[in-house]
Order: sequence, then structure tokens, then C-alpha cells
Amino acid sequence: MSPPKHIKLNNGIELATIGLGTYRSQPGQVEEAVKAAIDIGYRHFDCASIYGNEKEVGNAINEKIASGTVKREELFITSKLWNNFHVKAAVVPKLKESLEAFNLDYLDLYLVHWPYAFKEDGPLLPTGNVKEFFSDIDYLETWQGMEEAVKLGLTKSIGVSNFNAEQIDRLVKNCTVKPVVNQVECNPNLNQKKLIKFCQDREVVVVGYCPLGRSEYVGRPGFPEPTIFDAKVAEIGKKFNKTSAQVVLNYIINNLGVVVIPKSVSPSRIKENFEVFDFVLDCQDVAYLDSCNKNQRVCPSSDFKDHKYYSFNAEF
Ligand SMILES: NC(=O)c1ccc[n+]([C@@H]2O[C@H](COP(=O)([O-])OP(=O)(O)OC[C@H]3O[C@@H](n4cnc5c(N)ncnc54)[C@H](OP(=O)(O)O)[C@@H]3O)[C@@H](O)[C@H]2O)c1
Repeated sequence: MSPPKHIKLNNGIELATIGLGTYRSQPGQVEEAVKAAIDIGYRHFDCASIYGNEKEVGNAINEKIASGTVKREELFITSKLWNNFHVKAAVVPKLKESLEAFNLDYLDLYLVHWPYAFKEDGPLLPTGNVKEFFSDIDYLETWQGMEEAVKLGLTKSIGVSNFNAEQIDRLVKNCTVKPVVNQVECNPNLNQKKLIKFCQDREVVVVGYCPLGRSEYVGRPGFPEPTIFDAKVAEIGKKFNKTSAQVVLNYIINNLGVVVIPKSVSPSRIKENFEVFDFVLDCQDVAYLDSCNKNQRVCPSSDFKDHKYYSFNAEF
């Protein structure tokens, strides 16, 4: 069967299985990228306050709503709470700041960006002796603020990002409103099969970031070679008249059961990344892509490995 275009979240809301990523999309470029994506058919946009471009994303969305191209209720906008604002009382005000930046009345999904917290008055991205900026706030406290945001109608759904299995389990057992997704890195180099199964068993959908292995990191020492540069993947693509990026996105959606959010500011690549629903990989293609798994991360966030809630020390 070809890849599903939507997946149902545990609260009944449908999520498009492909969305546009916006991290490192420069304010001067992201507006055009989002407008192009809406014209191409994207309805799902992945954003975060730390990306520093919510205002430009919002400009593009509002322009497309005003011109009648799309209705607000057809769009699914995700944003994320940054690590310095994990105290319960900070969650709703931070979400309201994001809404103001987007110039929107509500979000579709608000995520806790990382399970670990930084001190509120410290830097957003600690460097040097990072431990002095760590905060011990428990993500279960943060979650109470997230639940409040749902009650106030500021977001339709809430979820988490970069949580490991034990953290997901602890959260699911101690919440009133269940997380709908766990957004984690997912690509053939890090296929996350164990974490995906664990999340699916708890009705938590996995959204996969860096699905293309963050292709601009090709050749960068210490980072895995993105699978879209693998000659065998290109060969698989030729069979279907598809690019390597299309093969990888199709595999992640259809064979791993994960929602993808590739980032691009190039209209031709935004279109390319959307045209992944009209082919089905053969068993041997899937076996090859499965064999690419190396458990290597593009985003290890290893600077924070000593934090009490750092998530990547666990096996999954
Ligand atoms: N929750 C988290 O902690 C977290 C962490 C990282 C990322 N994310 C989210 O996930 C999104 C995607 O991850 P990512 O941006 O790091 O990596 P990615 O989507 O794997 O890769 C993006 C890179 O690939 C290029 N690209 C796009 N389409 C391509 C294609 N068809 N062929 C070749 N290259 C292509 C882009 O360049 P051009 O723009 O020049 O096309 C960009 O350099 C982010 O934008 C963000 O929204 C979340």
C-alpha cells in the first residue's frame, strides 16, 4: 500500500504525515518557503520559538488565509516551549508569546522541546560550564502548564520532543491530558524502531525530525553521512523515477510509521519532498534501508549529557 497521507492522533485529530520543517530557515527566506509550501499542498508546519522565525512563518500563513488559498482550520501549526521556561507558571505566557509572534489565536500542537530545563534567567543556549545553567524542574511540572494551555483553548493538542521511552512512560502514567506525539530524530541512520514501537503501544505518534539526515552536514566530521547520498538509495530511486530524498521520506512514512517534517527553503525541493505518496518500495529496498541503521545522531545535544533529564543516555 502507498504511504498514508494522514494519521489519527489519540485525541481524534488528524495530522498530515508530511509537514514543513522551519529550523535554520532564515527570516528572509522562510516566508516565501511557507507560501510556496501552502500552494504545493502542505498543511502541516513545524516551528519553535527558539528558531526565531515564528513572525515570518505567521506572516506567510496569514497572507494565505487572507487571500482565500487556505482556511485556518485546514492548517496544523506546531510550536515548542524552550528549555528555560519549564516552570509551570511560564508555559501559558510563553505559548501566548508564540501566538502573538504568529498572529494566530491558537496552535494545533504545542511541544515540550526537550525533557531537560535550563535556569529561567540564564542563556537560551548555554555554553562553557553549562552545568551552572541547568535547572532540576521536573517535566511533569511543565506538563501541568501544558494541560492548562489546552484547557484555555490556546492549543488543540500537546506533546513532547526528544523524550526517551522511560520518560514517555512516566509522563503517560502521570498526566491528565495524554501527549499526542513524541517528536524525535528519525532517518535511516537512526531508525528508532524500538522507541517507535514503545510510543505506538501508548498511542503516541512519532514525528521524525532530520528525516533527510540534515543534508547540509554531509562530510562534516563526527556526523553520520546522510543516507540520501548513498549510491544504493539513488539506484532504488531510479526504479521508481524518484530522488533519494523521496525514497527516504517514503520509507520513513510507510515503513517506519513516522510523520516527517523535512526542512527546505527551496520551492523545487519543497515540491519534491511532497511527492512521495505514489510509490511502494519493494521488500529488498526496505531491507536495505533497514540495514542502514547505525544509531548515530545528527542532534546528540551532548553538551547537556550530564543533565538529570538528558534523554539520550538510555538505549532508546
Ligand atoms: N524537536 C527537535 O529538537 C528538532 C531538532 C531538529 C529539527 N527539528 C525540526 O525538524 C525539521 C527538519 O530537520 P532538519 O531541518 O534539521 O533536517 P532535514 O530536514 O533532514 O534536512 C534539511 C536540509 O536538507 C536540505 N534539503 C531539503 N530537501 C532536500 C532534498 N529534496 N534533497 C536534498 N537536500 C534537501 C535542506 O536545504 P534547503 O533548505 O536549502 O533545501 C537542508 O539543508 C527542522 O527544520 C525542525 O522543524 C526538530
